[in-house]
Amino acid sequence: MLEENKLNTLLKLISSSTNEELIWMNGYLNGIVSKQISKEETVIKSHVNKLTIAYGTETGNSKRLATEFASRAKKKGVNAKVQSLDQYRFNDLAKEEYFLAVISTHGDGEPPAAAKKFYDHVHQNGFKLDKLKYSVLALGDTAYPLFCKAGEDVDEQLNKLGGTRIAPLQKCDLDFDAEADEWFEDVFKSLNDGSESLTIVKQVTPKKATGKKTYTGTVLTHIDLNDMGSNKQTYHIEIAAEDVSYKPGDSIGIVPENDKELVEKIFTLTHFDRDTNIEYKDELTSVLELLQKKLNIVFLPERVVKHYASVVQQDIAVTRIDLLDLLRLHPVKDGTQFLEILKILEPIAPRLYSIASSPEAHSGEVHITVAKNSFKVSDEIKNGLASDFLSHLDGSNELKFYVSPNNQFRLPEEDKNIIMIGPGTGIAPFRCFLAERDSTGATGKNWLFFGEQHFASDFLYQTEIQNWLETGVLTKVNTAFSRDEQEKVYVQHKMLQHGAEFFEWLHAGSYVYVCGTKDPMSVDVEQTLLQIIEKFGERSKEEAEQFLDDMKEEGRYVKDVY
Ligand SMILES: Cc1cc2nc3c(=O)[nH]c(=O)nc-3n(C[C@H](O)[C@H](O)[C@H](O)COP(=O)(O)OP(=O)(O)OC[C@H]3O[C@@H](n4cnc5c(N)ncnc54)[C@H](O)[C@@H]3O)c2cc1C
Ligand SMILES: Cc1cc2nc3c(=O)[nH]c(=O)nc-3n(C[C@H](O)[C@H](O)[C@H](O)COP(=O)(O)O)c2cc1C
Repeated sequence: MLEENKLNTLLKLISSSTNEELIWMNGYLNGIVSKQISKEETVIKSHVNKLTIAYGTETGNSKRLATEFASRAKKKGVNAKVQSLDQYRFNDLAKEEYFLAVISTHGDGEPPAAAKKFYDHVHQNGFKLDKLKYSVLALGDTAYPLFCKAGEDVDEQLNKLGGTRIAPLQKCDLDFDAEADEWFEDVFKSLNDGSESLTIVKQVTPKKATGKKTYTGTVLTHIDLNDMGSNKQTYHIEIAAEDVSYKPGDSIGIVPENDKELVEKIFTLTHFDRDTNIEYKDELTSVLELLQKKLNIVFLPERVVKHYASVVQQDIAVTRIDLLDLLRLHPVKDGTQFLEILKILEPIAPRLYSIASSPEAHSGEVHITVAKNSFKVSDEIKNGLASDFLSHLDGSNELKFYVSPNNQFRLPEEDKNIIMIGPGTGIAPFRCFLAERDSTGATGKNWLFFGEQHFASDFLYQTEIQNWLETGVLTKVNTAFSRDEQEKVYVQHKMLQHGAEFFEWLHAGSYVYVCGTKDPMSVDVEQTLLQIIEKFGERSKEEAEQFLDDMKEEGRYVKDVY
């Protein structure tokens, strides 16, 4: 702001000037300001010829950031190129002048599928990147045991190959915007310093991520949506949380608790005192609380089994196994060794669930649709940790969760048409979309494809879907109940059956959303989409692929699959 005396002078000048004089002054000041800006830009222009910003993404966050940075770099006068790591030519790496990688972590500390080849490539030794100047921005989620692991690995590996860091690795939690921005500014400060005086970062001091908001909700409703005779258990869970804030398309992350009986068995076997307090993440916590709520004790990753073997100093086959089985087969010597084992256990990883409620229609609440995951291990029926935990909640339970945004999976403008393909629990975000469009009076048409095993027992949210059809919120619904007929029918068969109309919708600019199982569902659906474009859009195979690629690029074909 201007000092008071300067402001008074300016106001006097303005009040005594004619309109023409004011216009002239405006132009004059603009000229001075823009000259200063272009001076700043040319500082970089003079020594940075080329900057590549490569991204590895699964759900679009890294791509969004990389694209934003490239556009900001261009505004600063730098010739910045943005590229997906799956399209990146490895031979170019040695020729890069400045290379920025924006990469997330998925699975259990793995790189996104599209960045896997690049990740593997830089992990091969036998080549040098002596000229490379680089920096890595790693996206992740602090709730996972291997926070930002893929980014960390790429950063370390590029350094091992001879690359020079121009800014330290920045690891970001889900609320990444501010830190990502800081990293980008750091990078540009480095570029600005000029290649001669380039600040080379020898020591990696990854900055701490700030963390995200955790909500504590109360379970309001907990019902099994499947009827008698079903092979499935799918729970509709409503959680009240006054201050919750999310957008349609988001998920919530929940850290489940371990099965109480299993924890009891561990105490019975080890005779360890459950009330012993030990330090965990800077707090004193009882061993009971740790085993109940914090540490993963089932289906241990192989790296933990290896650690276990080295603590108990026994030969143990490196395979995923539960802690109880390890303790039975390869017992600890005493209480001290048991405490050592607790130290090598990892935190329980969160599980994500698509939000099935709408911020407009269900304010202060979050609804989810959870399928109980059951499977056989050597003739014993076991359950997935989180879905089993959630299936046992009742009205009195409190539940901690956080919102995991998905900026790729958003409703379009209110007058656009959408096609939703969501068999099984894939219906969840579409219940949200429909309730949201109903509440906001959106005018776009809505077409839903839903599938399950049996009409009578597995038609999730049947009453609501029928109501939306009657009131016109839903323009069309097609269902596929695979086990009601002799031949198995799935959603993709229904899409093909209505292929001519499906293509008309696509051609008219509809948005297509797919949610549910990644494999085989989303793979089959994609094949069918291509078939529909080929057959009903009269395109060649290559043209159909291009058509779908264009839809992806325009954000008109998006998936949230798991
Ligand atoms: C963005 C996103 C949205 C999602 N939305 C939904 C949703 O709306 N609804 C929904 O139901 N799910 C959803 N999921 C999936 C969900 O996050 C969980 O993956 C799912 O509920 C299974 O978790 P779990 O803890 O029950 O199973 P886990 O314990 O994680 O087990 C997973 C698998 O690991 C293996 N396994 C586990 N333990 C053992 C063992 N002891 N021995 C041998 N094998 C074992 C089994 O193959 C098992 O199926 C979503 C996932 C993502 C990423
Ligand atoms: C199934 C799944 C697994 C994940 N695993 C990890 C992990 O092991 N470590 C981590 O730091 N973040 C993990 N994340 C969080 C993502 O890295 C985070 O959401 C990131 O913002 C995604 O960026 P992207 O959209 O560019 O892929 C996981 C997310 C999902 C959905």
